[in-house]
Amino acid sequence: TDLYAPNRKNSQGWDLHCLHDIAQMDAARSQFKSHKWTAEPILASTFKGAQAVAVINPADMSDDLGHVIDATEADVEAALSAAKPWIDSSPEHRRDVLMKAADLFEENFGEIFALLTREAGKTPADTIAELREAVDFLRYYALDIEKLEIRKGNYGPRGVFACISPWNFPLAIFAGQIAAALAAGNGVIAKPAETTPLIAGLAVKLLHQAGVPKTALQLVPGPGRVVGAKITSDPRINGVCFTGSTATAQHINRAMAEGLDPEAPLIAETGGLNAMIVDSTALPEQAVRDIVASSFQSAGQRCSALRLLYLQEDIAPIFLKMLYGAMDELRLGAPWDLRTDVGPIIDEGAKQKIVNHIQKAKSEGRLLKTIEDPEGGYFVGPSVISVSGLKEMGEEIFGPVLHVTTYKPNKLNAIIDEINDSGFGLTFGLHTRIDDRVEKLTQNLNVGNMYINRNQIGAIVGSQPFGGEGMSGTGPKAGGPHYVKHFTQKPIKRKKK
Ligand code: SER
Repeated sequence: TDLYAPNRKNSQGWDLHCLHDIAQMDAARSQFKSHKWTAEPILASTFKGAQAVAVINPADMSDDLGHVIDATEADVEAALSAAKPWIDSSPEHRRDVLMKAADLFEENFGEIFALLTREAGKTPADTIAELREAVDFLRYYALDIEKLEIRKGNYGPRGVFACISPWNFPLAIFAGQIAAALAAGNGVIAKPAETTPLIAGLAVKLLHQAGVPKTALQLVPGPGRVVGAKITSDPRINGVCFTGSTATAQHINRAMAEGLDPEAPLIAETGGLNAMIVDSTALPEQAVRDIVASSFQSAGQRCSALRLLYLQEDIAPIFLKMLYGAMDELRLGAPWDLRTDVGPIIDEGAKQKIVNHIQKAKSEGRLLKTIEDPEGGYFVGPSVISVSGLKEMGEEIFGPVLHVTTYKPNKLNAIIDEINDSGFGLTFGLHTRIDDRVEKLTQNLNVGNMYINRNQIGAIVGSQPFGGEGMSGTGPKAGGPHYVKHFTQKPIKRKKK
């Protein structure tokens, strides 16, 4: 298989327009509707474990879907002592094992679908996209290491990686980080997000079933202050791969500086204050559809999501009317229902932060549109807030909230400066039919992923490598040709005596 060949295929998942696939989905929903899962430390030795904590469905607090047993400090220590690089394997063997894991993920899609929906509150479309992305990461990195090692030679693993992943892509990013580190022959100690340990537990079981040795992949669920703090500052760790907030990445960077070898890399994907410009030549129906997807799909809980819309002032009144109309058509509620467009926020704390932001805007007369919150879970209705520009945005609000400002066409240079000066640079969207404008913005903006006349979420592995600049991440881009290489090092040549 040639990774870069035009016939490279991404995972297909289920098609929500196909009756056969919907029947499979319905069967999975019935089979796993009341199923209970357990996540616990998965170590090369036995674990002690802390007290079990219930995991609940963010869309329905009465739906208890199992429990997690967190790793204790002694468990983390045991993981660190037992962790070994996966170096007794050839690149071909690692490729075969990771390809097998990808197949197992696809074969177990029914269970994964139900678990992602119930644990992370993902809608059917998001769940399917997430499984496809996880499988794509596994296959892409498996084939990539083959290219790197076999064709160019001389790349070896760095040692043991700490992989710390977020709840918003609890399978895709979790598996992607691990796959890249393993493909390069490293060992991994993985810490999943506290709100989504169950899907991580299932993924690790499937990776072990595919043939990854237990010393090369251990799972340590638990809080950042216990588990995360230890694995990012222990000298037995040779690199950290992290996706989450910019503040946590900076914290990890400081911890690594104190405890780890100075050569140990931090590979971080963090937040953004992502903008879109819509000018008067844009096709309004298309732009509205893409804004709704970029801001409200996944309830806005994507680091790529659109946060600030720059709307050319001439078209603003009619355009906003169309946008509000489209928002009124969104179906909010439990993602277990196949028709749901916008599901819940991940937990109470995250919901409260978003609600406070909306309430503040309301009290200041800046709330332009809001949809009522459905009852029964951590739901927040999609909302639109008026701001004067990026400077007024404050910190990233991780939810279904779109901020809007209007601009005069002669102010485009000032907008470019404003976006670049924010220090973040993850995604950017542009809706225009003026080619020179596309050229100008793509040449001058410092952002990782730009999307022209489409939505700005859902980067596809192998086609749209994903990652930001500045405070949005260290690079390299995930799902791109430079990623795995950063998990390797050229073997140190020993001096002859
Ligand atoms: N990779 C995701 C996307 O492109 C963001 O986390 O939406």
